[in-house]
Amino acid sequence: MDNLKDNFKEFIEAINAIKIKFLSHLREKETSIHIYTHLDADGLSAGAILGKCFLRENIPFQITVLRQLEKQEIEKILKNIKNSNNFIFFTDFGSGQYLELQNELILKENFDSFIILDHHLPQDIDSKEDTDKLNRAYKNTRQWHINPYFFGFEGSLEISGAGLCYFFAKSLNKKNMDLSFNAIIGAIGDIQNQGPNKSFIGLNLRILENAKELDLIEVKSDLNFSSIKPLNEAIAYSKEINLPGLTGDVNRTLLFLKSLGILMENSDGNIRSLNELDKDEKQKITSAIIEYASLKLDIEPNKIIEKLIINRYLLNSEVEGSELHDLAEFSNLLNACGRLNSASLGIAIAMGDRKIAYKKSQEILINYKKKLLDSLLWLKDNQKIQQMEYIQYFFGEDIITESIVGTIASMLVFENSEEFDKLKPIFGLAKREDENVYKVSARAHEKIVNKGVNLSNAIREACNRSNLDVLGGGHPPAAGTKIPVDKVEIFLKNCNIAIRKQLYKK
Ligand code: C5P
Ligand code: C5P
Ligand code: ZN
Repeated sequence: MDNLKDNFKEFIEAINAIKIKFLSHLREKETSIHIYTHLDADGLSAGAILGKCFLRENIPFQITVLRQLEKQEIEKILKNIKNSNNFIFFTDFGSGQYLELQNELILKENFDSFIILDHHLPQDIDSKEDTDKLNRAYKNTRQWHINPYFFGFEGSLEISGAGLCYFFAKSLNKKNMDLSFNAIIGAIGDIQNQGPNKSFIGLNLRILENAKELDLIEVKSDLNFSSIKPLNEAIAYSKEINLPGLTGDVNRTLLFLKSLGILMENSDGNIRSLNELDKDEKQKITSAIIEYASLKLDIEPNKIIEKLIINRYLLNSEVEGSELHDLAEFSNLLNACGRLNSASLGIAIAMGDRKIAYKKSQEILINYKKKLLDSLLWLKDNQKIQQMEYIQYFFGEDIITESIVGTIASMLVFENSEEFDKLKPIFGLAKREDENVYKVSARAHEKIVNKGVNLSNAIREACNRSNLDVLGGGHPPAAGTKIPVDKVEIFLKNCNIAIRKQLYKK
């Protein structure tokens, strides 16, 4: 425990030191700020936190959202710094490219007016256990690089990119503690609430405490079904809870609910949603489902409860039932904006816009949900998932584009489907429109991550073995890269080998 306390102290001191460097730069030079961030919910939340905190200090800033900090993007940034006087922030990426940034910006251009706030394992470091390499990287980059692994924190689970921006913002001004809810949205986007009943651990828990202290967020236990869909649909189409006999069948599910003596229609004649039920009704349903599942599935009640009951993180300032009230839905909305070419709307909403940007986002959300649903159906109906011995993969063809291929791969892994083999990682490949490359998004179920699968390493190894000079990486359960079209076969073959080695040490 003391060790953890020391680590936290060191982490905060490192952030303070970087803040001091930043403030002295601001005092010395007339400068504006350029934030580069990632296009997913975490990246947009990270950008929004910094944006909001600079706005409050009257510091001019702009935000650029990138699909990834690739080599070509770094080249473009290099050109930009020559013509401007910007101070740069890299958020939710940058650690996986830190050597590249060090080479291109500091060594070649003598430009060190930048800060990386990122939670990915740093470039060329394979594991959090590699403390020698981590210590060396920390020592060499501490002037401009904050990464949780330097302080013994697990970046995949304990803190997101948005969380790091939150600690930086809080160090600039305590007032920014009211941005703690944005950091929780980022962490949910990166699926970091993986403790029992979707709880948070580590640094995320500290952020959540800040949000609770300010009465921004309420944490409520609830049934793990959509709170806004008609309840029979929410149960029948749940992606996480499988109830043989009810799953997939909305009519039987409705009969099941009615048999509990619960009135299922509201005054408008529509089926009620979870949001519309009171505590006693929810309790009745919970007990009935536990009984039903333990009969049909032969699973212990406490195992069922772990999945059936979850924490909901509710934003007190938002209207109950709106997308923004439940932070999981908020995060989904940001993902929709980022992935459907409307990142600026997402940032505006995360920074507080509830008018134009929020209105526009409603249509995007509908399109996003439809696109995901159509893509999954297309994959299944046409049996597009192909098998190798240790991995599986699919090509998105004209249907699954680069911006959603990662989300589709995640959904396959999380979905409650017996057709999908959770014991092999999945690699989704989407041809990029403006370049002769495939974007690769790999995802693995926790069952195999716990047995040693680390997709970030597997992708880096496969790139090396295939002689590909590209950046790649991520986290053990989720990683990505891009590869030239003519190298796809060899790359997949090498991924297959890398996973075999991780699982069977041969
Ligand atoms: O770049 P960043 O770390 O923010 O992105 C992590 C990505 O990996 C997110 O898109 C998240 O949804 C995905 N993920 C996943 N499964 C996990 C953890 C993260 O699909 N277990
Ligand atoms: O792009 P995708 O959603 O598949 O990315 C999964 C994870 O891998 C994210 O955390 C992302 O930031 C990371 N990634 C990376 N380097 C790349 C591509 C993806 O670190 N070149
Ligand atoms: Zn992230």
